[in-house]
Amino acid sequence: MKIFVTGGCGFIGSNFIHYVLKNYPDYSVINVDELTYAGNLKNLSGVSQSPRYSFLKGDIADSVLMEGVIRQEIDAIVNFAAESHVDRSIEDPSRFMKTNVFGTFVLLEAIRKTSSSRSIRFLHVSTDEVYGSLGAAGAFTEETPMAPNSPYSASKASSDLMVRAYHHTFGLATLITRCSNNYGPYQFPEKLIPLMISNAVEGRELPVYGDGLQVRDWIHVEDHCRALDVVLHQGRAGEVYNIGGQSERTNLSVVRTILDHLDKPHSLIRFVKDRPGHDRRYAIDFSKIEKTLGWKPLILFEEGIRQTIVWYQAHPEWWMEIKTGAYLDYYERMYGNR
Ligand code: NAD
Ligand code: TYD
Repeated sequence: MKIFVTGGCGFIGSNFIHYVLKNYPDYSVINVDELTYAGNLKNLSGVSQSPRYSFLKGDIADSVLMEGVIRQEIDAIVNFAAESHVDRSIEDPSRFMKTNVFGTFVLLEAIRKTSSSRSIRFLHVSTDEVYGSLGAAGAFTEETPMAPNSPYSASKASSDLMVRAYHHTFGLATLITRCSNNYGPYQFPEKLIPLMISNAVEGRELPVYGDGLQVRDWIHVEDHCRALDVVLHQGRAGEVYNIGGQSERTNLSVVRTILDHLDKPHSLIRFVKDRPGHDRRYAIDFSKIEKTLGWKPLILFEEGIRQTIVWYQAHPEWWMEIKTGAYLDYYERMYGNR
């Protein structure tokens, strides 16, 4: 199988490429990534010399480039390319519209226009955030109406709807996955877990938004990659599959767990101004993928967070290089006046 991966230099995309090349010795991967602030070639340094891997720097909103890659007899597309951070979408939503909405549309059009490509499986990697926010009980199912609250989640919901329409109208073999919060190696240190681990290691304060009692469901990125694998190979075209980690935690409890593992004092926690429109709770019902495709998460949060902390401790050069220059300006803007 020849897989076209978009956004493969980011967190989940790079983990997925490592996963595919390791588990499928006869598969090859073409990775197209624009290398935004979140894209990092070092995430793939271990495979960059492989004859089964090729990389092109480019934008998914570039229709000529997308059509050119699709004509290279690919079997499947896995679309990770996106602006992915809620806080940045609050600061400047425009790039979220360009990449997440328009970029996905360009990809769909490129498949539609390349008539021989109708059989290409298009796996669109989406998020549980399209469903909005939950109260104290219940969980999102695939039937939960979409009710996105941030510019990020609204852009993902918009792209999901376009993917759905291209299946119904043009018969494209599309699949949509909606996964909860990922953690693991190579995650950019703007997201909760890598930010808190790296800040704690550096002895910096850990900024917790509002009361810190918001709830997220955490999934190890390796479990997410296994789920994408089964959906790509066995999922039914036109369907949506929820993916969850069965690990609901408040943000405060995640942050305290990190400090305890690193033997750092809880006094490093600083409660800061809440995120505007902050979703209170996410939880995922993943019984559809479990019953129909036999997938469930295997990595318990306690073990996954331990491994993840060990990884960030063992690779300070990876995140320290990121936490310089433009990153420091971002950090100052984000937390300086909170
Ligand atoms: P990320 O921000 O780490 O990586 C995104 C990658 O896309 C980067 O390499 C970036 O350079 C690339 N990119 C951005 N704009 C592009 C463009 N116009 N053309 C080509 N490449 C472009 O994101 P991530 O956390 O790895 O998320 C990957 C996907 O998974 C996203 O679609 C996101 O919505 C979805 N998702 C993420 C999570 C999570 O917890 N991180 C959970 C569920 C779903
Ligand atoms: P994040 O990793 O940005 O993912 P998402 O907003 O997509 O769920 O944030 C996870 C949770 O952690 C969310 O409730 C916001 C909170 N948070 C903080 O309290 N402090 C921080 O510095 C960050 C980045 C997030």
